[in-house]
Formats: sequence, structure tokens, C-alpha cells
Amino acid sequence: MSSSTVITNIATLVTNDPSFGWEGSPLGLVRDAAVVIDGDRIAWTGESSKAPATDNRVDAGGRAVLPGFVDSHSHLVFAGDRTQEFNARMSGRSYTAGGIRTTVAATRAASDADLEANLAHYLAEALRQGTTTFETKSGYGLTVEDEARALRIAARHTDEVTYLGAHIVPPDHADDPAAYVALVTGEMLDACAPHARWIDVFCEKGAFDGDQARAILTAGKAKGLHPRIHANQLSYGPGVQLAVELDAASADHCTHLTDDDVDALANSATVATLLPGAEFSTRAQWPDARRLLDAGVTVALSTDCNPGSSFTSSVPFCIALAVRDMRMTPDEAVWSATAGGAAALRRTDIGRLTPGARADLTLLDAPSHVHLAYRPGVPLVAGVWRRGVRVV
Ligand code: NIG
Ligand code: FE
Repeated sequence: MSSSTVITNIATLVTNDPSFGWEGSPLGLVRDAAVVIDGDRIAWTGESSKAPATDNRVDAGGRAVLPGFVDSHSHLVFAGDRTQEFNARMSGRSYTAGGIRTTVAATRAASDADLEANLAHYLAEALRQGTTTFETKSGYGLTVEDEARALRIAARHTDEVTYLGAHIVPPDHADDPAAYVALVTGEMLDACAPHARWIDVFCEKGAFDGDQARAILTAGKAKGLHPRIHANQLSYGPGVQLAVELDAASADHCTHLTDDDVDALANSATVATLLPGAEFSTRAQWPDARRLLDAGVTVALSTDCNPGSSFTSSVPFCIALAVRDMRMTPDEAVWSATAGGAAALRRTDIGRLTPGARADLTLLDAPSHVHLAYRPGVPLVAGVWRRGVRVV
């Protein structure tokens, strides 16, 4: 029999459970609350005074507890960094997809052990900042062997693995992009599909156009992978409409959207995943989260952690940016980084603290989740439970 633990004396509990009422917030907030964990699952949430008896007790000390963050978009299988490129950008150079080539060269040259150690390093960093679920992608190998090994390494650390052979056309195929698309949809897909749940494509000028992206995602679907898209990041384009057409779980970036793009998202099950670390690190215009939310689009918030466009593993940092610069309320931003991330991964067992959900929780050194935006840059995460086990 698994033992049960109550975390009590929680000043603010974020459940994302609508049965607690919305109180002008999507977070299902409970004040003076408790959570009961049984094994790896949430058994009960509610007011402290009504908590059932348990074997163990943890005193939250009048602080806030929320679901562990769900980072539904990262690129963590890579080697090297791009400090010089960042420095040049901060002196006025603009970001292009071309920088990806630098990381491709470094990643191909790295050993399996080095790639895995690098991944583990950033995962530990993310965990200390409250992330309990993460998605991660290939996309810096761009050969059959290098993409398959990236996915094998990623799959040792998460179930949410994405095949991104279509990140850019690599230099070795620069003269014949059609041959590269044939490889991505053929031999490379066959080698990668067994290790992945998702397929992604960078649909952008300088990467893959709408027709190429449709061919790649359709081929992936036929092999049992579900689509998600890097869409409308650097310019207007067909990515968002294609995401909706193919029932992609998520259209990611969504920085340049027409009214038709917003309408299409609002009338679909495709989540708009916003990645403000990328706009921060490329000095680009912010995605308009307010416009999406007001239209009824489901919004997720993630790091996009990668060495080129967004080298942060910190969901709290992204929440602060989203509130300050993307016109989200603190409650909306916290919802998007928990339940929104779960929606972008089509998961209902994470991103919420409801009976039966996975016991993934973050304890803040603050009385309320609002402090994540109110106290930017401050390491507020004081405890993390993953599958019922305290890991921070
Ligand atoms: O999501 N946009 C495409 N891919 C990444 C950046 C990759 C890189 O610059 O290395 C992104 O921003
Ligand atoms: Fe990305």
C-alpha cells in the first residue's frame, strides 16, 4: 500500500480545477488549502480544515503551491553554444534560421555521452525552476543517424519526444532541398518514428514552405506521429493555417498572425504556444497574447530552450515576460505554463492538481503564484514533487 502525505498550510493553492469556481481566474484557486498525495497521484485538494488524515504531513509555511510547469517546447539535444551570435544580435544584427547550422555542426561532432550529459544538465536546471514535464526535439542532427540518436537520447528522459528532421535544409543538401524533404519523409522518418511521439517542422522563409511542411507532417501522421509546427515566428506565413488543417496539437511562436490565423486557431483544437524567451533573445516583436486570449484561443507558454533563439530553461522568467510584455494577467500566464502546456501535449493527467492527476507540484517561496511575475528573476521555487516524490 502506498503511503499518503498531506501538504498543509498552503496560503494559495493553484489547482486548475474549475470545480473550485473561477473567482475571476482560470486557476481554481483555494486559499488556506491542503493537498493530499497518495503514491504518485493527487488524492485530494481543498481547504486545510477539511483535509483527511494521512501518514505524513508537510507544512508549506503559508506559501503557494501550484502544478509543476509543463514546458511543451524545447530543443535540448544539442552541443556547444552561440554566445558570439547572441553578442552580435545585441549589437544590432538580426536573428535568422541560418544560425541553426552552427549548432548542427557542433551536435554532429559530439559523442552520445556528451549530448546526454548536456541534456541532463539543462533538465536539472529546469527542474530546480519548477518544470516537471518537458517536451524536447531533435533538429540539430539532420542526418538519419544523428536525428535518430538525438531522439533515442531524449526518450531516455521524457515521453514527449518530437522528430524535427525538418528544422532547416542542412548545408550538405543546400543544392537539392527536394531531396532533403524526401529523406525527412522517407528513410529518416522510418529511423526516427519509433523513438518519437510528435513530428514538427520549421515552416518559415529560409526553412520549409507550406507545401513542404504539409508533405512532411502528412508523412509523419501516416507513421503514427502527431503534428506540431513552428509557425509564423519570423514572418507571416502558412504555418498556423496548416496546423489547424492537420489538427496539430500546437502552433508554436505565433508572433506574426493575421485575423484569419487568429480565427482559425479559435475554431480549432490547436493550442497557440507562445515562447517569449525567443522574442527576448532576438529582440523581436512580442506575440500578442491578449488578442489570442480575447478571441478564445487556448494559449500555452513555454521556454523554447535552445542555444540560438532562447537560451533559457526558466518557465518563471517566461511567465514574467508574458505578463509584462505580452499583456497576459499573472493568472493567465500561470494557467498557460501549466494547464496550457498540458493541452499543447494533449495530456489531461498533468498541469492540474485534481484527484487522479499526477502528483507533480511546485512550492513557491511566496504567498501567491502572482509573485512569479511580481518578483521577476528571483529564484522562488522552494520545493518540487515529481510523481509524488520530493525532488527539490
Ligand atoms: O524555435 N525556430 C526554429 N527553431 C528554434 C531556434 C533554433 C536555433 O536558432 O538554434 C526556435 O526558435
Ligand atoms: Fe523552437
